Amino acid sequence: MQTAICPGSFDPITLGHVDVITRASKLFERVVVCVVANANKKTLLTLEERIDYVRRVTAHLPNVEVDSWNGLLVEYAARYENPVVVRGLRAVSDFEYEFMMALTNKKLDPRVETVFLASDEKYTYLSSSGVKEIAYFGGDISQFMPAEILADLQEKIDRRIK
Ligand code: PNS
Repeated sequence: MQTAICPGSFDPITLGHVDVITRASKLFERVVVCVVANANKKTLLTLEERIDYVRRVTAHLPNVEVDSWNGLLVEYAARYENPVVVRGLRAVSDFEYEFMMALTNKKLDPRVETVFLASDEKYTYLSSSGVKEIAYFGGDISQFMPAEILADLQEKIDRRIK
């Protein structure tokens, strides 16, 4: 069985991420969303919160599981028989970074393939950092975030600002 791994920081998961995960779930028998701890990045949400949010917004997708990892992605992928890393590509500006990651992962472990799914045009501008910035300045983020986590995220950001 081929397992699609959708890795990311998901700080927080957005409608753009959900779109890519949903489409991956139609292409692959099994999808594992891997929330990466990412020690280098300062995150708004704790690892547990990020995992919880991802679980809540993917609960309706029966072949999607949620896991987490702190380390090299290829080491995580090695636990699956036929791992394919799935990443969304929003615009040409994403390409350089994504291409570098895919090639680095391939160098580290030639068994790990990466496939890119073109973002739905509705979400090409959308990023977790953009959403956080809008929220910090009091803007409405409801059109960017899954309904299941909107209130909790807004509350978390409001508490940070106060
Ligand atoms: O959502 P993000 O922050 O763009 O996701 C980036 C992520 C988590 C997929 C990437 O940073 C990653 O794979 N981190 C794990 C460490 C690793 O394997 N680094 C080498 C890849 S170049």
